[in-house]
Amino acid sequence: MSDPQPTDASPTALRDLAARIAVDTGRRIQELRAQGVDVAASKSSITDVVTAADREAEALVVAAIRSARPEDGILGEEGAGIDGSSGITWVVDPIDGTVNYLYDLPVYTVSIAATVADPGAMADGRRAIAGAVYCPRLDELFDAADGAGARLNGHRIRVSGKRELATALVGTGFGYTVERRIEQAAMVSRLLPRARDIRRLGSAAYDLCSFAAGRLDAFFERGLQPWDYAAAALIVREAGGALLGRDDATPPGEPLLFAAAPELVGELRDVVLGTADAEPTGPERQRN
Ligand code: IPD
Repeated sequence: MSDPQPTDASPTALRDLAARIAVDTGRRIQELRAQGVDVAASKSSITDVVTAADREAEALVVAAIRSARPEDGILGEEGAGIDGSSGITWVVDPIDGTVNYLYDLPVYTVSIAATVADPGAMADGRRAIAGAVYCPRLDELFDAADGAGARLNGHRIRVSGKRELATALVGTGFGYTVERRIEQAAMVSRLLPRARDIRRLGSAAYDLCSFAAGRLDAFFERGLQPWDYAAAALIVREAGGALLGRDDATPPGEPLLFAAAPELVGELRDVVLGTADAEPTGPERQRN
């Protein structure tokens, strides 16, 4: 067999590759879901599970990337760690929303991003130049390429542009350890009186894409990992959303990621962190 030919490394070509692999892998995890799912192991706590499908899906993604672009690195949630020589590292979550997958709730995704080193961009020091997030149960493919916009099933998407927190629908998520959840509960308790409402869909990649598509007005989470946000952060930026970290000196990612319209994201951060004035401006005040 001859060596694979190097493929086009333009952001749009990498996006199309990510999208193809995400859709193929998503269809496979659907088939596996239909056969039934068992927990294969736990990770950070008994609630942080991995299934055989997570592992098989990651192996499929790794094989497809290696076949198309053998010089690239790969970082995967389930342990893939391959150094590359091309400057591109693929960041992969084979199933984001594993608990939804376990319970057969529809919001779980395959998330694949092609990233380059960029120390100031995100907390992990990498920036996606192309990415795809595929939700097989809903047959929704979100994708983006650097400078080429964000799409849902091929159609351009934009954030809602909501500027007022009081009428903003805000997505969030929770980690798996008790200590992390205590912090997250405090954040939610500060935000809930100030916003329209909160949604916890169960896949951070899908949450961020929902924000990019105008289905949520904002999103934040404490403790996300690069595979949770790599592709979706690009999709958000290409859809006109703004991202912030814990403070202006800390890029978004771990420890904190906030996403909202540029005019709203600072206020969202202030309220979640408890550094805003304490007066509720949300539904509670409007009702009284
Ligand atoms: C989780 C999901 C969830 C988020 C967690 C993530 P996983 O990823 O994205 O929505 O709240 O922080 O760990 O474990 O399903 O791949």
